[in-house]
Amino acid sequence: MTHDHVRIFDTTMRDGEQSPGAAMTMADKIEIARQLDAMGVDVIEAGFPAASNGDFESVRAVGAVLENAVLCGLSRAGPKDIERCAEAIKSAKRFRIHTFISTSPIHRKHKLNMEAHQVLDAVTASVTLARKFTDDVEWSAEDATRTERDFLKRCVEAAIRAGATTINIPDTVGYSFPDEYRDLFRDLIQSVPGADKAIFSAHCHNDLGLAVANSIAAVQGGARQIECAVNGLGERAGNAALEEIVMAFRVRGADLPYQTNIDSPQLMRVSQTVARVTGFPVQFNKAIVGKNAFSHESGIHQDGMLKHTETYEIMRPEDVGQGATSLVMGKLSGRHAFKKKLEELGYTLADNALNDAFQRFKELCDRKRHVFDEDIVALVDDQIAHGDDAIQVSRLRVVAGTEGPQTAEIDLTINGEPVWKTARGNGPVDAIFNAIKEAAPHEADLELYQVHAVTEGTDAQAIVSVRLSADGRSASARASDADTLVASARAYVAALNRLNALGSARISAQHSAA
Ligand code: KIV
Ligand code: ZN
Repeated sequence: MTHDHVRIFDTTMRDGEQSPGAAMTMADKIEIARQLDAMGVDVIEAGFPAASNGDFESVRAVGAVLENAVLCGLSRAGPKDIERCAEAIKSAKRFRIHTFISTSPIHRKHKLNMEAHQVLDAVTASVTLARKFTDDVEWSAEDATRTERDFLKRCVEAAIRAGATTINIPDTVGYSFPDEYRDLFRDLIQSVPGADKAIFSAHCHNDLGLAVANSIAAVQGGARQIECAVNGLGERAGNAALEEIVMAFRVRGADLPYQTNIDSPQLMRVSQTVARVTGFPVQFNKAIVGKNAFSHESGIHQDGMLKHTETYEIMRPEDVGQGATSLVMGKLSGRHAFKKKLEELGYTLADNALNDAFQRFKELCDRKRHVFDEDIVALVDDQIAHGDDAIQVSRLRVVAGTEGPQTAEIDLTINGEPVWKTARGNGPVDAIFNAIKEAAPHEADLELYQVHAVTEGTDAQAIVSVRLSADGRSASARASDADTLVASARAYVAALNRLNALGSARISAQHSAA
């Protein structure tokens, strides 16, 4: 059976970043973009250049590192947005302008305050202008699935006539059912004049938990591009999860005659990078990339697995990059073996960074009986994420237990200057966060505090996630350590650093002793 190519359009850094608290720095975006590119993603939507200077610069920086993927920037229908987008994307070898306008009656009336004929004119004008900058123009009908069918067809026809080469039909509010969405694509492709000149694209939100099912149905209806995000990140309930779509086509290839370019063993690594930089942990039972996606707990399942893995597994963990938990080296392992291990895990560190990581690895070996691959990944990811932060935790001492009040004493380095503070709290974590607030006063509110163990056992490293918000923006971060309280302090400080980088925390160092 011949398999049609379905383009994977990744929007983790645009629609994904629109999740409150998932803001990414330019360095984060570059790291994710390199991994998506290496994994075989066809189009990478790196941001919305007209939204802010930060977004503009990030899109530009991502473009400069892409080897194969097409760089895409989002733009509203106005000329200023389109021109700004065109300026940002030209850093890439291959680039696309993605321009959109709402088409549904509810959006036309309440969001745009425009009549249908004005929207139609804007479609032609925006695509015509975008085509002046590139031959690769995508046009989207925002809220397409709640748009009158005839009007949607007129808009799609106008966009194609003006030169759009990709037509995206988003289920913006996650309202569709698979049958409806598939039939919508069939109808548009069969009846819109000029439809054969464009690639149709699906873009589904997960409000009813149907984003992946709808995306696959769209392909059955004729779509040949799917817009999706790693870990299903995105507005509200998220976008369709990239890893689930890729594996659905791979596992059910006999029934779904479509293929993607994605090298699926890289899925896990990208998933972990996105989780780390956004601070959005992957739920344990998440399909494909969840920690438990390949664990078999019940006796009956384990027995079946031992006899023949296919009794309960439709794909192998290694197909998605989930390695079996393996015991790595201990305190006697040398720097060379450690370097080799890192390379096996996909990390190449420069000499200084390698020395730091090795030092932390040795410290971990002193504190933890068994060190697993996951521990090393957590340790190195943590170092990559926080090595250059303006505020760093140098030392922490906590008094906790039944005899309150709990107190924390913390040494921070803020822009190279040491600051020491002590504070009490309602429990040790509260005391730590209060001490940080004393040392680095700020207005941020704590929105989320979560602890996960990296591996099994009471000596497991803890990964702590913290989300802070200030001035209507939020930032999340994670940190890991064998001591949950140290990880908590470092995660809080890391979130503060991110908020600061976004210009929302207004931190000042408080000198002197408490
Ligand atoms: O969900 C949506 O409609 C979008 C468009 C901007 C493509 O994200
Ligand atoms: Zn969207």
